[in-house]
Amino acid sequence: MSGEPGRLFAIGVGPGDPELLTLRALRRLREAAVVAYPAPEGGESFARGIVAQWLGDGRPEIAIRFPMRPGPSPVGAYDTAAAALAAELGRGCDVALLCQGDPLFYGSFIALFARLAGRFQVEVVPGVSSLSACAAAAAIPLACGGESLAVVPATLAPEVIERRLAGADTVAIVKLGRHLEKVRRVLSRLGLLEAAVYIERATTPRERVAPLAAAAAAPYFSMAIVRRPPGPTARGA
Ligand SMILES: C[S@@+](CC[C@H](N)C(=O)[O-])C[C@H]1O[C@@H](n2cnc3c(N)ncnc32)[C@H](O)[C@@H]1O
Repeated sequence: MSGEPGRLFAIGVGPGDPELLTLRALRRLREAAVVAYPAPEGGESFARGIVAQWLGDGRPEIAIRFPMRPGPSPVGAYDTAAAALAAELGRGCDVALLCQGDPLFYGSFIALFARLAGRFQVEVVPGVSSLSACAAAAAIPLACGGESLAVVPATLAPEVIERRLAGADTVAIVKLGRHLEKVRRVLSRLGLLEAAVYIERATTPRERVAPLAAAAAAPYFSMAIVRRPPGPTARGA
């Protein structure tokens, strides 16, 4: 070790299929002395699972446990995680922080970045996001020509979702989970339910694509994409 602090590599590991890891992500993963990843309080880390074939070589691993349930932002957990990463970086170890999808697209990394970026060198390695993966799975164009695209968390209040839908030609609704029925009601009110496609666990062996109207339940790793049909339902009303 040189006496210099270590570098934090925030590595986007993609939506699920290890083949969607970038060459840079793999290089940084192999270089790091320590590997860290978010994990639910009592379960396996999805991000770690994506790159498991390149781990298990004796390197120290830090599981960052977050409460993955609705509620306020887990500030204490972020502080604790940032302190654990800072300890390794302070000792001069480069740390690979695994981020499912892309680190800067609704990633828990964003909260850690805010805590560590001023003190340590941080390199963000972009990853294939769930947005790209789900659009590919459903073969839906996200935007072309002069169109606009919105990404809306299903966790928002129905009236907020409705307002955000009004401003875009195509909308991706993320964090669907237990908000499935609420989202369906909003889309139905706007005459958009028929245009909505449901995508679950994109790029994994359990990937499923179906009309949103037909989905029985939605796991955490699911989203809906709605591409507004041309004609009388077009926005601007
Ligand atoms: C906290 S966000 C993380 C997004 C991630 N950083 C990315 O770039 O895709 C989690 C949400 O992303 C979506 N998501 C992530 N991976 C997915 C997948 N493989 N299939 C469908 N949706 C996915 C779901 O809507 C999920 O609730």
